[in-house]
Amino acid sequence: MYRTHTCGELRIVNTGSEVTLAGWVQRLRNLGGMTFIDLRDRYGITQLVIGDQAPVDLHQTVDQLGREFVIKAKGIVLERSNKNLKIDTGEIEILVSELHILNAAQTPPFTIEDETDGGEELRAVYRYLDLRRNPLKRAIMLRHTMAHEVRNYLSSQQFLEIETPVLIKSTPEGARDFVVPSRMNQGQFYALPQSPQSFKQLLMVAGYDRYFQIVRCFRDEDLRADRQPEFTQIDCEMAFVEREEVLNTFEGLAKHLFKSVLCDYLHHPDHPQFHQPFPRLSYADAKRLYGSDKPDIRFEMKICDLTSLAKGCGFGVFDSADFVGAICAKGAADYTRKQLDDLTEWVKRPQIGAKGLVYARVVPEGVKSSVDKFYTPEALQQWAEETGAQQGDLILMLCGTERTTLEALGALRLEMGNRLGLRKKDHFAPLWVYDFPLLEWDNETQRFYAMHHPFTSPKPQDLSKFYSNKKEDLEQVCANAYDFVLNGVEIGGGSIRIHDSAVQKRMFEVLGFSDSDADYRFGFIINAFKYGAPPHGGIAFGFDRWCAVFGGSESIRDYIAFPKNNSGRDVMLDAPSRIDEVQMKELGIASTTI
Ligand code: AMO
Repeated sequence: MYRTHTCGELRIVNTGSEVTLAGWVQRLRNLGGMTFIDLRDRYGITQLVIGDQAPVDLHQTVDQLGREFVIKAKGIVLERSNKNLKIDTGEIEILVSELHILNAAQTPPFTIEDETDGGEELRAVYRYLDLRRNPLKRAIMLRHTMAHEVRNYLSSQQFLEIETPVLIKSTPEGARDFVVPSRMNQGQFYALPQSPQSFKQLLMVAGYDRYFQIVRCFRDEDLRADRQPEFTQIDCEMAFVEREEVLNTFEGLAKHLFKSVLCDYLHHPDHPQFHQPFPRLSYADAKRLYGSDKPDIRFEMKICDLTSLAKGCGFGVFDSADFVGAICAKGAADYTRKQLDDLTEWVKRPQIGAKGLVYARVVPEGVKSSVDKFYTPEALQQWAEETGAQQGDLILMLCGTERTTLEALGALRLEMGNRLGLRKKDHFAPLWVYDFPLLEWDNETQRFYAMHHPFTSPKPQDLSKFYSNKKEDLEQVCANAYDFVLNGVEIGGGSIRIHDSAVQKRMFEVLGFSDSDADYRFGFIINAFKYGAPPHGGIAFGFDRWCAVFGGSESIRDYIAFPKNNSGRDVMLDAPSRIDEVQMKELGIASTTI
């Protein structure tokens, strides 16, 4: 028997029992003839002691040990004289009578400690060693708990988990497809799903009116901290529902995860927000008030339109701008010149693209601005009133075209939120954003793209605009689409789908597909819709993102056991890689093309 207990299990009540443990050597210490070994497994660490009276052969085995050796130890549980209350097993130790080396280990290339000395790249190459460290172990365990609770909740709501294929025909979600060449059908390719969108709609046609799947999706797009080329969705669809029912059902899922994962598993304090209806914002309001379609509402600092107050007073920069907007940073009036210069540089970075930053401090003497000479004290006072700034607050203003200025203010708002410590990792603020535009015009290709995807239905009240041939009308059509946002992260997105084939046909027409084009790409779904498609809608959540937000991290990589790096490479496997000539020939791919 390799073990009677795990390394995280034994307590003071086990004192006197004979036990066998197996695990990895975390640390070895020799103190005056006695050896202490920290033995680690997934469950914890238990201290082993080899006394100075132990037989010679036991000491000889100990002498061979090194870090990360895999060993098995038998012994008696003793109460420790020197207790370590920081770990669960810290009141006991094992006085070892037998010790076996199950496998030797090379010295690992970095220390397997919470604070490791290994750089990111090195740890990625040895991901299996990195996964031994507590922070990653906690992340992987959190992910498991999340998946388990998602299944619990959705099963309790009559959702069926149904798998859909991975080798499919391209599904349009806006990113590039990863493709797989077919050996049996040379010159033809499968695509890996960007999401199971079409399949879940076909399942609705098939009558499985509540479907979900925790499913791998693949998108060949530029990578960021919250984007991986392969990632996991909690993909869901329901039939015979309107938006309200979809939002309520998945608000139920979020509340269940808040309780079971955040509160029960991660021991976060319960929060009234987890029980009340989640706030909702229209896309237009989200952009207007927060400069973003995924606002972080853990803090206020809404954007305020000061255009009419700021223009026409002789300050040329504002006078020539379409839009002047402001945010009020509470308690930041004492920002130093250096801090303000630093912020000015920050907004001028190409990612933000502002030309400059105007500020106004609310101090006991009144409102003091960087553009004082153009405005009367009363005019400046009005800025304070409009933005709700009180004594001690700092007003920050940007100007330009409305869209770019709102976006820049949105980014500045988040930065100020960070600088003022308002974006706390243990504070959770859920939000629904709804009524997204249906279409986005692309200047380069001179055509409309679906903002969500081509199966999203327009809002019924906008149907006449949807059938208009004017670009301005089409731009104003609202989609019956919604996003779930948590702490400023887009966790999920979905919509009520088109189930009327005439509307779907019109959608393809607006997107510039000829009938034959639409038929080639989406024939299977157009056809299926002829056989009784129920009204339906759904949503998909980014599972990795949700785990990362719960875990308090901005990067999803730690929540994926074997992630890719920023160039889409698996540096542990060294993939992607070349394939040999024979394989290429079989697939009908000429080597010169690679
Ligand atoms: P959407 O494209 O909005 O919708 O994707 C749903 C959610 O998936 C997550 N996500 C990602 N996570 C990590 N890496 C990526 N590269 C990545 N791309 C997306 C996001 C996002 O909100 N079929 C529709 C859903 C529907 O309409 O039901 C879809 O895939 O958290």
